[in-house]
This record gives sequence, structure tokens and C-alpha cells, in this order.
Amino acid sequence: MSHLMENKGRSSFGSKFGFIMAAVGSAVGLGNIWRFPYIAGTYGGGLFLLLYIAIVAILGFSMLTLEFVIGRNRNANVIDAFAVGKKKRSYIGWLCIIIPFLIVSYYNVIGGWIIKYLAIFATGGDFGSAGYEGTFGSFTSDPVASGVFTIIFLALCIIVLIFGVQKGIEKVSKVLMPALFVMLVFMAIVSLTMPGAIEGLKFMFVPNFESIEANGGFLQMLSAATGQAFYSLSVGMGIAVTYGSYLKKDQSIPQNALSVCGLDTIVAIFSGLAVLPAIFAVGIAPSAGPGLVFISFPAVFESLGGFGVVAGVLFFLLVLFAAWTSAISLLEVLISALEEKTKLSRKGATLVVAVVISITSILVAISMQPEGLFGVNLLDLFDSLTTYVMLPLTGLLMCFFLIKVIGMKTAKEELLLNCKVQKLGKVWEFAIKFVVPVLIAFILVMGILTWTKVI
Ligand code: PHE
Repeated sequence: MSHLMENKGRSSFGSKFGFIMAAVGSAVGLGNIWRFPYIAGTYGGGLFLLLYIAIVAILGFSMLTLEFVIGRNRNANVIDAFAVGKKKRSYIGWLCIIIPFLIVSYYNVIGGWIIKYLAIFATGGDFGSAGYEGTFGSFTSDPVASGVFTIIFLALCIIVLIFGVQKGIEKVSKVLMPALFVMLVFMAIVSLTMPGAIEGLKFMFVPNFESIEANGGFLQMLSAATGQAFYSLSVGMGIAVTYGSYLKKDQSIPQNALSVCGLDTIVAIFSGLAVLPAIFAVGIAPSAGPGLVFISFPAVFESLGGFGVVAGVLFFLLVLFAAWTSAISLLEVLISALEEKTKLSRKGATLVVAVVISITSILVAISMQPEGLFGVNLLDLFDSLTTYVMLPLTGLLMCFFLIKVIGMKTAKEELLLNCKVQKLGKVWEFAIKFVVPVLIAFILVMGILTWTKVI
């Protein structure tokens, strides 16, 4: 009875499939498409894949379940979720506001670029005399043009969010995620059938000790794998706490988390199949980030002749679906906190968040000019600060919060509710108390070292 009363007034996901699709929607994003294939090839190919799968199984699964446990147990937005115990740890909640706030401010800008490229391909894929690099450079450094597309992308997210958890996020994710997967498999087939595709497969799958040595050795590889797992599963910033708070008690947290980890990793591997063979087939050096998607890929499509325009539309639609559902999850953290901490309605909170985020996103778009905004490129700053420092830091704090404030006994009860494998409790406790904090502390130290070099 008590939990029924607690649940009163809070939204929830309607079905298991809907919850998994929404959580996978958050996890599957640009990280899978433009980061994973390159990192895998750079840090040892097949060896990286094995290490990555082990890290996802150990760290990723533990962190995701940990956040779901906190979310469902506290049944609250991120601010209230951490404001308990003798010494209220609201600062963890605030970190879970600041991180999505920073990330979504630049994610929207990239979302805008994706829509622009979708439009270019939908209207014939003509890049004119400026070429691929010139087109990308002049578009992104024009704040008015890129600002307009940024707002269009944000509007797409807001339209979904205004309908709430079940009628908005869940409904849309249930359509977009399966569609993304079908398109991805199609793109992988196109890419694998290009002449010379085999080189791309070798880059990603053949175990390669030399590439590990050449790129800083095993510790660097471990750091890359752990960092990628964190980012790719969207853990360490309260998204899974928020989505977990909408998870009904009759659901098994470990089962759901396993599906999310598995599907996210499958999509990452398929992205590798879609991206690398095609890049190698046209003789372009593999890379990560915007250069890969917005400069190298248009060249791939050109080599496909008339079919290239269709492939271009499909590819950018796929990337759009990936970015859209990720941005939705970031915004949901902010909206749920604002709605529950103020007297605003769902609609009111959504609109306030939309206005604030459109301002910060435009600032990021302005900062993409060569001279930056007061000399700073906000996209790089927000991205590196969150990925290298804030995500692991918050992950570590959440881990301590679970142990100290929620307590292992309660946490394990929550974890094992309706779970078929009750033995998991002991292994999980060991992982959360010893393995996870050590691994996260390691990526935090490596992250701080890298970040101070980057900025
Ligand atoms: N997990 C997403 C990806 O792989 C990135 C992301 C990070 C999304 C943080 C939301 C929040 O690209």
C-alpha cells in the first residue's frame, strides 16, 4: 500500500518493452556511431572489443542497475532522490542537473547539423563548389543558419516531451528504436558490399597488439574502454535514476538493465560494420566525431552514385533518431526536477526548460565561429568537462550514496524484486563495493589528466 500511495501522481512507463526502448534510446546516440568504431580500431581491434564487452558486463551493468535502484527506490526526480539521510546529499542531485544541462546544450547544436544534412540529401545531395569540408565549415560557423536548425531539433524533442512519459517518450521510442535498428542493418549491408570493405573489418575485428602499444599501452586502452562504456550507457548523470523512478515495481531491474547493455553494445558493433568498411572502401582514414559523419560520409555517398542520395537520407535519419532519443532523455531529467520542485504543470515545466535550453544552445552555436565566444568553443569545453571529469565523479558519488545512505540491504531488495536470479545479489554487492569504485576512480584520475591536456 505504501508504495502505491507514494506512486500517486508520478508518471510511469506502461510496458517493459516501452521502458527498454526509452532507455536504449538514451544509450544509443552519437557515441555509438561516431566514437565507438574508431576507438575500437585504434585501441587493439578485436582485443578492444573483448575488453569492452567485459567492462560493459561488469561496470556498465553495475552502474546502470545502481542508478535504476536509486531511482525506483527513491521514486523521485534527481534533486529529491539524493536529498535524504542525516547529511542530505543534494549536491549529487545538482550535479545530475548540471551535467544534462551542459550536454544537451551542445547535443542540440549537433542535432541541428544532422537535420541540415538530412535536408541536403533529401534535396539531391549537392554540396556545390564548397565541397564537403567547406560546406561543413561555413555552415557550422554561421550562427544564424546553425542556430535555426538547432531550434528545429530542440522543438522536435519538446513536442515529444510535452506529452509526458508514457504518451510521449515511450510511444516515440517504441517506433524510433526498432526503425533505427532496421536502418542500421541496411547500412551495414551497403557498407559491407562495397569493394575493399574487408580492410574496415580488419581494422575493427582483428586483434592488434601493435595499435595498443602505439596508442599509450594497456592502461590507456582500459581508460578508453571504461570511458566509452560510461558515456555510451548514459550513466553517471541521473538519466537512469530518472527513468528508473518511472519503472513499476513488478519489473525486474537486472533483466531490464541487461537488455539495455546488450542492445547498446549490439548497436555499437553494427555501427562499426556500417561505418568502417565504407570509409576504408573509399580510401579515407578512419576518424571519430563530426569530421567522420559530416565530412567523410558525404564522400562515401558520392562514391555510390545515384543510390548515394538515398543512402545519405537513410544514414542521417538514423543518426537523427539516435541523437533525438538521447536528447529527450537529457531534457527529461531537467523537466521532471523542475515540475516536481515547483508548482509548474508538465507543460509549463517543459516550456521553461525549452526556453532556457534554447538560449544556452544558441550560445554554443555562436561559439562555433573560428573566434569562439569570448575565445572559447563551448561545445568542446562542455563535452570534455562532462565526459572526462563530471560523469565519473558523479558516478562515484552515486556509488557511495547507495552504500552509505540507501544501504546494501534495501538496495539489494530493490534490485532483486521480481528477479529470477536471486544469487545475483552477492555478486552485485561485491561489484558495487569494490570493483566499481576502483574502476571509476581510475577513469576519474585518467580523465582529469586528459582534460587538463585538452583545454
Ligand atoms: N549515450 C549517448 C551516446 O552513446 C550519449 C549520451 C550521453 C546521451 C549522455 C545522453 C546523455 O551517444
